[in-house]
Amino acid sequence: MRRKRLAVIGAGAIGRTHVDRARLHPDVEVVAIADPSPAAEQFANDERVEWFADYAAMLDSAEPEGVIVATPNATHLDVGLACVERGIAALIEKPVTDRVEDSLRLDRAARDAGVPVLVGHHRRHNPILRRAREFVSSGRLGTAVAANAFATFYKPDAYFDVPWRRQAGGGPVLINLIHDIDTMRFLLGEIVEVQAQTSKNVRGFEVEDTAAVLLRFESGALGTLLVSDTAVAPWDWDLAAGEAAHFPRQDENTHFLMGTEASLTLPRLDIWEYRSGKGWHDPLTVERSTPQASDPYHEQLRHFAAVIAREEAPVCSAVDGARTLAATLAVHDSAAARAPVAPAQV
Ligand SMILES: NC(=O)c1ccc[n+]([C@@H]2O[C@H](COP(=O)([O-])OP(=O)(O)OC[C@H]3O[C@@H](n4cnc5c(N)ncnc54)[C@H](O)[C@@H]3O)[C@@H](O)[C@H]2O)c1
Repeated sequence: MRRKRLAVIGAGAIGRTHVDRARLHPDVEVVAIADPSPAAEQFANDERVEWFADYAAMLDSAEPEGVIVATPNATHLDVGLACVERGIAALIEKPVTDRVEDSLRLDRAARDAGVPVLVGHHRRHNPILRRAREFVSSGRLGTAVAANAFATFYKPDAYFDVPWRRQAGGGPVLINLIHDIDTMRFLLGEIVEVQAQTSKNVRGFEVEDTAAVLLRFESGALGTLLVSDTAVAPWDWDLAAGEAAHFPRQDENTHFLMGTEASLTLPRLDIWEYRSGKGWHDPLTVERSTPQASDPYHEQLRHFAAVIAREEAPVCSAVDGARTLAATLAVHDSAAARAPVAPAQV
């Protein structure tokens, strides 16, 4: 396959990760970067890639076949629409937009124009998560009854020098927990009710630093989630799953699924079940898998190239991303109302 010509809009933390991964990928090449910051101009020069301050000018001049949108959340709608209007496929970082109605507007525009939009819920490209999904759908766990996920880690103070990360639209619920909510939806189906408490006691920013969340799934299963960006702790997917070298890997489980026949942990993929008798007085057996390690950002680029070629449908469409966003925004809504809320209907 000829390499697909990509542009990156927003060359900050994750934009640069995409450029790094694309450099090593046989299916894509980055031909342009749009980002007005001097640091991004320097980065583009270092990468020997054409640089633009203005993304619209870049789209019209460089005419990429696909665009990776890695700008702050509040810009995703406008940047996404600019791509779609020009017929250019887009990989839009999560959250797809910062409001559900904006995600649906983007989805409508993309469908009307026949342009695919892929949302960057990169974990869906991780073989560990895909294997876990197979375990669940095969019925090995029986009926799923409960799930629990931790997203607890300490972000260095310099991370918060970037203003949008401290303001509404940023914060660990929308930046981090959204991945765990998407993971839960990917494994256990739709979330129909959310109850949450948030706290900003430690960092004191406009956004929360910690949240505790209860979930009810359409299936009837219940879940709990815990996120904190100010806790010194290893129980977080980014730290435990080994997806990126800049996170030293911690050999811990972070996600736990419990069913009537067996339980499953992630990322280790331990399965706990009874093989003789069935009751808490009987011995439990644990079976461990060793899934093939792989970089989900690399696999996501392969998939994006296939999406651009119209050979694969997006693994996470704008509507799918909107459902994850709706459940994530319900965390803030519930915390504000001090009551359970149903995610916005998508
Ligand atoms: N999937 C993941 O693993 C992952 C990880 C981190 C961030 N993200 C998401 O990626 C997005 C970016 O996050 P980040 O941490 O890289 O942010 P960042 O602040 O490090 O980088 C954002 C970049 O966008 C640029 N920018 C702002 N407005 C722009 C515009 N109008 N046109 C072009 N460039 C513009 C800024 O100059 C900056 O360089 C967010 O939506 C975030 O939620 C995803």
